[in-house]
Amino acid sequence: MLIGLIELRRELGLPAVDRVPPPVGDRTANDAPVIAAEVRLTGVSFGYPTRDTRAVSNVTLHIPPGQSIAIVGVNGAGKSTLIKLLCGLYTPDEGTVLVDQADPAVEEDARRKVAVIFQDFVRYQLSLRDNVRLGAGTDDHDQELLDRALVDAGGATVLERLDHGWDTVLSAEYEGGTDLSGGQWQRVALARALAAVAGGAGVLILDEPTAALDVRAEAALFDRFLEVTRGVTTILVSHRLSSVRHADRIVVLGDPADSGQGIVEDGTHEELMRRGGRYSRLFSLQASRFAQTGRDASDDPGPVIR
Ligand SMILES: Nc1ncnc2c1ncn2[C@@H]1O[C@H](COP(=O)(O)OP(=O)(O)OP(=O)(O)O)[C@@H](O)[C@H]1O
Ligand SMILES: [Mg+2]
Repeated sequence: MLIGLIELRRELGLPAVDRVPPPVGDRTANDAPVIAAEVRLTGVSFGYPTRDTRAVSNVTLHIPPGQSIAIVGVNGAGKSTLIKLLCGLYTPDEGTVLVDQADPAVEEDARRKVAVIFQDFVRYQLSLRDNVRLGAGTDDHDQELLDRALVDAGGATVLERLDHGWDTVLSAEYEGGTDLSGGQWQRVALARALAAVAGGAGVLILDEPTAALDVRAEAALFDRFLEVTRGVTTILVSHRLSSVRHADRIVVLGDPADSGQGIVEDGTHEELMRRGGRYSRLFSLQASRFAQTGRDASDDPGPVIR
């Protein structure tokens, strides 16, 4: 019902709603009361104190509530830095960052609206339950919510293999505990993000937590994520373009070598392909390398997006 309302508004060309009524019936990870947040970056620049050049230059970006967007760009383009600015971990040198009109670097409420999984996400030496529940930001645990988050994150098989189920400590250093593989940890981290959304976060950000997966598995997981988080403002970060083509919108950050450019392309996958610019050239390059070699060539910076 919730998803239907959002799609109907989109089809009718109505502005996205920033508050949608809670669904009637069971609360689950993907149809929890969604309060999608609005994100607005205006003229944002940031440089690390130890560096001469700016990591993020003059980025202006408005993400309406409920939109899914991909941020792409070569290694070092500033994607992760931009996400950290959005989470309020850094304060911009210039410009403003607003989540629902509030500055996440200053206001705790705005910070709490952002659920993020970074490339180097945290592996807590706690039970599976705590690892997922931490995302919901609450002490009381709703088992149904946790189950749904884990299933939606593709982690049902992780649970099946644990001797003590949800109570298993995810560390071999504890009696009865066990460590997980890299891929299994990723599912747990993704479940944590979904639990955060079910717990009320209005923006969900995945900054390549899937980098250890092969290109097909990452694409499948991002697609699944877009499906289960429909109606939530979602930001996917990747330099594998095939993984993010199904986002509502794709923005390309300029190369670090051409500093000061900020966002150089902005549109749907189809629009950017028709435009024949950096995105389409890099997309075609990655696709042809993959077809020729069967290998993921996206980590090869090669002829970068130009
Ligand atoms: N903590 C830091 N201190 C100093 N410089 C940093 C720090 N983190 C990132 N940088 C620099 O800032 C620039 C942008 O880095 P960032 O990690 O945001 O890029 P990215 O687009 O996320 O790259 P990747 O695709 O490799 O994840 C790079 O030149 C990087 O070396
Ligand atoms: Mg990064």
